[in-house]
Amino acid sequence: MSEKMIHRHTRLSIFMHWFNAFCWFALLLTGLGLIKNEELNPVGAWLPNLMRSLFGGGENLLLVHQYLGLVWAGAFLAYILFKPRATWSFLKEVFPVSPASDMQWLLKMTLKMTLGRKGIERFGLSPDLPPQGFYNFGQKLFAQASVVGGVVIVATGLVMFFSTISMDNPGPAAWSRVIHYLTVGLVFAGLLVHIFMAAISREERPAFKSMFTGNVSEHYVRHHHSLWYAQVAAEKDKDG
Ligand code: HEM
Repeated sequence: MSEKMIHRHTRLSIFMHWFNAFCWFALLLTGLGLIKNEELNPVGAWLPNLMRSLFGGGENLLLVHQYLGLVWAGAFLAYILFKPRATWSFLKEVFPVSPASDMQWLLKMTLKMTLGRKGIERFGLSPDLPPQGFYNFGQKLFAQASVVGGVVIVATGLVMFFSTISMDNPGPAAWSRVIHYLTVGLVFAGLLVHIFMAAISREERPAFKSMFTGNVSEHYVRHHHSLWYAQVAAEKDKDG
């Protein structure tokens, strides 16, 4: 018997997600390629050398990085302008937190992943996780970091971009460089966890598939996002 499916992501939001992922990796590679200082570059000198030879020198590499960053930011600006309701519902979904149950979810999830269900019981806790909505607290934390981080990265990137046109005051560009670099590092640390949880963890395999098909099984939703399941069921009842 075929499983009942629930709609989770629109085709446009799937496209935006993978476009964002592509831009992130391309910007990361070209950005790291710009850092010639070996002490600052976490991957050493080979990447800047490789990227510079691929793009025909540091100046071209900087242009590619800057214009790709502008395309990335421009696409999100267009999304916000043309889809204000979808943008607002996404922000309303990821920013509100319920401190007591969300912290409990995070603590239990960490114990479950490191020590297993028995490990949770050893602390006198039940292994059942608090119910979650459309996104679980881990997904919310990363979404918050990528939204806030994205705004900071674009703002500092724009300051640096305009400082290459007018070099009257180098101060803001110098500060922006440090903030840009640190923010990318922080979001990247979260991205490693995001990729592990989303693409490698077996439990979240249905959510990974939904980032291509748009749908998830009712069984997965009932077990992993029970608050969202209750909402979907209530809407179905209302529509008859
Ligand atoms: C290889 C890279 C990536 C993989 C495999 C991946 C995987 C996924 C999956 C499977 C989901 C859906 C989760 C669900 O429906 O419950 C998701 C959502 C999300 N991802 Fe990624 N992701 C990647 C890169 C990125 C990057 C680079 C960012 C941002 C810096 C990002 C930000 C988000 C956000 C904000 C969401 C929630 C919004 C949405 O559902 O569209 N992801 N990701």
